[in-house]
Amino acid sequence: MLIDTYGRVATDLRVSLTDRCNLRCTYCMPEEGLRWLAKPDLLSDEEIVRLVRVAVTRLGVTEVRFTGGEPLLRPGLVSVVERCAALEPRPRTSLTTNGIGLKRTAAALKAAGLDRVNVSLDTLRPDVFRTLTRRDRHQDVLDGLAAAHEAGLTPVKVNSVLMPGLNDDEAPDLLAWAVDLGYELRFIEQMPLDAQHGWKRDGMITAVDILASLRTRFTLTAEDEDARGSAPAERWNVDGGPHRVGVIASVTRPFCRACDRTRLTADGQVRTCLFAREETDLRGALRSGASDEEIAGIWKTAMWGKKAGSGLDDPAFLQPDRPMSAIGG
Ligand code: GTP
Ligand code: 5AD
Ligand code: SF4
Repeated sequence: MLIDTYGRVATDLRVSLTDRCNLRCTYCMPEEGLRWLAKPDLLSDEEIVRLVRVAVTRLGVTEVRFTGGEPLLRPGLVSVVERCAALEPRPRTSLTTNGIGLKRTAAALKAAGLDRVNVSLDTLRPDVFRTLTRRDRHQDVLDGLAAAHEAGLTPVKVNSVLMPGLNDDEAPDLLAWAVDLGYELRFIEQMPLDAQHGWKRDGMITAVDILASLRTRFTLTAEDEDARGSAPAERWNVDGGPHRVGVIASVTRPFCRACDRTRLTADGQVRTCLFAREETDLRGALRSGASDEEIAGIWKTAMWGKKAGSGLDDPAFLQPDRPMSAIGG
């Protein structure tokens, strides 16, 4: 079991498959991209599957989410999913993606055993999409979403980040669109995880702003606290119906007390938290011949050192050295 000194148990593993991305979202990375990890530094498909196997069979992990960067850029993705979904006990599997290329791979991912996807889309306006992501791929994302829904990778969730002056007027339109198409929309507060270190607390759209904007057009009823469990999103029912909308308020209403996550970067480092400043090297252990039992032991020790929270409210808060795209969102 991956337990920490606060009694939290990590059952949800997020595995980053690559730090690369084919978009350049302004809240994430600069126009020119980043200095990507070198191929030999990345875990191989075999190494990823081995670490997931250790997590699932020895450490009590029950949920495996593949992230990036953009995980669809990893050539071995379908095969990695297939091998992880075939583990006993079978973990639940999911993917967080920007949706580009999902049209082509959704059916194969479903057949490989992927349960569901979360797709990032911040705007319904192609011109705003171009400004926000610096790429002209809006239609690809919409097509990817439709293909995922069609393939049964459900519930399909959509993640939106609102940026002042760009798309902060779009919350009600995004919700009407998501309800219409049967996607579960979640708004994410912008976090200080951008490579450019440009985040400012007073420049971000908060959960309070988002809810006020949605309530100009919808009636929102808070979902039962018990239904939330350890999920980062707080959810509301929309207009008394079955549709839900979520807000992931990592900054203004952190959910660290219920955190059940452990993370693995694309170069094989365990991170106890999105905001952690320390990493533990599993790749080195793996490549120097450690047994599964030894790897499990190193992972347990790392998680034991997990801090109480993100530290965002601490005046001395320092952004992690690596940006979100390298950590795995
Ligand atoms: P499900 O609710 O299980 O579908 O997944 P999720 O919302 O955890 O996954 P997703 O990859 O879609 O993450 C959405 C956003 O939640 C991420 O971009 C982060 O902003 C936030 N998030 C995910 N994990 C953490 C975490 O450990 N800490 C914090 N502060 N935020 C997180
Ligand atoms: N703050 C909040 N969300 C972010 N994402 C990427 N960078 C940030 C940030 N700095 C979102 C993406 C994606 C999810 C994995 O994280 O839009 O939906
Ligand atoms: Fe790529 Fe996601 Fe970063 Fe956008 S937020 S540039 S889609 S990794």
